[in-house]
Amino acid sequence: MHIGILTGGGDCPGLNAAIRVVVRHAIDTYGYRVTGILNGWAGLIENLYRPLDVDTVSGLLTKGGTILGTSRTNPFKLKGAPQKIVDNFKKEKFDALIAIGGEDTLGVATRLYNEYNLPLVGIPKTIDNDLAGTDYTFGFYTAVSIATEAIDRLHSTAESHHRIMLVEVMGRHAGWIATYAGLASGADLILIPEEPFDIEEVCAILRKRHKRGRDFSIVVVAEGAVPKDTKQMVLKDYKVDDFGHVCLGGIGSILAEEIEKRMDIQTRYVILGHIQRGGTPVPFDRILASRFGFGAVKLIAEGEFGKMVALQGNKIVPVELKEATTRLKTVSKEIYELAKVFFG
Ligand code: F6P
Repeated sequence: MHIGILTGGGDCPGLNAAIRVVVRHAIDTYGYRVTGILNGWAGLIENLYRPLDVDTVSGLLTKGGTILGTSRTNPFKLKGAPQKIVDNFKKEKFDALIAIGGEDTLGVATRLYNEYNLPLVGIPKTIDNDLAGTDYTFGFYTAVSIATEAIDRLHSTAESHHRIMLVEVMGRHAGWIATYAGLASGADLILIPEEPFDIEEVCAILRKRHKRGRDFSIVVVAEGAVPKDTKQMVLKDYKVDDFGHVCLGGIGSILAEEIEKRMDIQTRYVILGHIQRGGTPVPFDRILASRFGFGAVKLIAEGEFGKMVALQGNKIVPVELKEATTRLKTVSKEIYELAKVFFG
C-alpha cells in the first residue's frame, strides 16, 4: 500500500504532529509506504513529492507549520486539474491519499472522491474550529491559548492607562477563537460574525461597565464580525483567493475609532493576525492531531474512503466527508450566552 499525504489551506499548529503519526503508524504497524505531496493540491498537479520515512518525521511533534508546505490551490478552478490529479495519482502508484485541511481542502477532497472516485480520507485542521462533524479541529486550542495570553497582557496595560483595548482575532464566519479566548481571559465584550453588532449597543455595554467604576475595558472582536445594519465585513484586500475568500482585517481599528469618538475614552487596538497560527502546538492539539492521524491510517487499512476522522465526545469516529464540508460549524448560542454574562 502506498499512501500520499498532503496539507492544504492555512497552516496551523499540529500539522507536523499528524504527519508524524501517519508515517510512523503506516510504516511500523502496516508496512506501508508513505510519500509527502508538497504544497497542498498543487503538489499533485505539479508532481511535487517528498518520500517520508521514520527518520524524516523524527522531532516533528512540537514543530509548528507543516514540513510539506501548503497552498490555497483549488484544482476545480484550474482547467483539467482534477483529471491531472487522478492521472498523477495513478502514475505515482498511490493507493490512497490523506488530505489534511479545513473546509476548502476537504471540500476539494469531497469532490475528488465523489466525482473521480479517488480513494482518500480527510483529517480536519484549522485554527478557526469551524468544520462541521467534529467537536474540535486541531490548531484551535493553540490559537486560543496564544490569543488568551495576548489578552491577559493587554489587560494590565489597559487598566494602567484607563483605556479601552480592542483585540482582533481570526475567524471569518465563525467566532470560535474570539469566544473562547474572550471567555478564558475575562473579556468585557466579544463580537463575533454570528451575532451582528450595533455600535450604539457596544458603547452602552462599555458605558455600563465604566459606570460601575471599571475605567478600562477589553473587547475581543473576530475579523469577520459585522454591524447589524450593513452586514459588511471589513476587508484588507479586495482580491479573492481560489476559493473565493477575500482577505479580512481591520474591524478592530474601525471599531476603536468609532468607540473613542462616541465615548471620549482613549481606545487602542491590536490585530493578532498570523501570530495565532504560528509556533508549537499546545498539548491538546498535539494529542488530537496524533489521534486523528492514527485514525486516518486505520480508515485506509479498512478501505473506508470518502470519510474524515472526527472527534465526537471523547471518541475518534469516521464521518462522511460531505457531511463535514457542506456546512460550517458556528458558535453555539449556549456558549455565547455564557460569554454574555460577563459583558459590561
Ligand atoms: O486558516 C483560516 C484563517 O486563519 C482565517 O481565520 C483567516 O481569515 C485566514 O486563515 C487568513 O489566511 P491567509 O494565511 O491566507 O492570510
